[in-house]
Amino acid sequence: MYNLIMFGPPGAGKGTQAKIISKQFGIPAISTGEMIRAAIKASTPMGLAAKSYTESGSLVPDEVVIGIIKERLTEDDCKNGFILDGFPRTIPQAEALASMGVEITKVISFEVSDKAIVDRMSGRRLCSACSASYHTVYAPSAEEGKCDACGSELIIRKDDRKDVVESRLLTYHRETEPLKEFYSKLNLLVVVDGEGTVEDVSKRALEALGVVLHNV
Ligand code: AP5
Repeated sequence: MYNLIMFGPPGAGKGTQAKIISKQFGIPAISTGEMIRAAIKASTPMGLAAKSYTESGSLVPDEVVIGIIKERLTEDDCKNGFILDGFPRTIPQAEALASMGVEITKVISFEVSDKAIVDRMSGRRLCSACSASYHTVYAPSAEEGKCDACGSELIIRKDDRKDVVESRLLTYHRETEPLKEFYSKLNLLVVVDGEGTVEDVSKRALEALGVVLHNV
């Protein structure tokens, strides 16, 4: 059973790799960012409270995201493992996860330079209906501006504006990066080079998990 954490700066490819590993292992990929965006779209009380944080590149308060994850991990599809994408992002979140009795198998840290991140975020496009993610250059949709999966319009995420990306990177270095030491001390951290093609990165990530594949 794999209980995995995809770790890394914004735009490192955590979501992209989480979806690939999810298919490979048949376990759910759980993205706190996606859950928060869905709540904002639906204007739920949590979404309304989270909006100003995400749009300015800050972290949503710990108690909110801890609550979301606690509830999500009790769902049936998590019984055989799961992949957390974007959680934990602070030491209190990591401590809360441990206190839920969750045993983490590995934390995969995708290392990508700040320059490559800005490049990835500026080209990212997201499906307005199903959240599928594309990149104008590295992972384009078949028809420009339309989702391959459902045909809906592709949009630019509000927090992918240049000034917000810079703020998200600062937040990452200040509040999230210290978790590398936290998980390294627990012997759970595996560092993976996150640059190169999506396929190259998948191969490295799967190898880090002890899986050697020729076609991913
Ligand atoms: P969240 O949605 O988690 O954003 P993030 O961590 O900033 O990560 P991203 O989704 O931007 O990037 P990613 O690493 O998943 O990369 P992706 O695969 O998409 O969080 C958003 C906000 O919600 C936060 O800022 C915060 O406010 C709040 N939040 C969420 N979780 C929270 C928590 N735990 N605590 C508090 N607040 C929280 O790839 C990026 C782009 O690059 C795509 O276009 C993709 O196609 C492309 N790409 C991917 N891999 C490659 C590659 N190898 N080569 C070229 N292009 C690539």
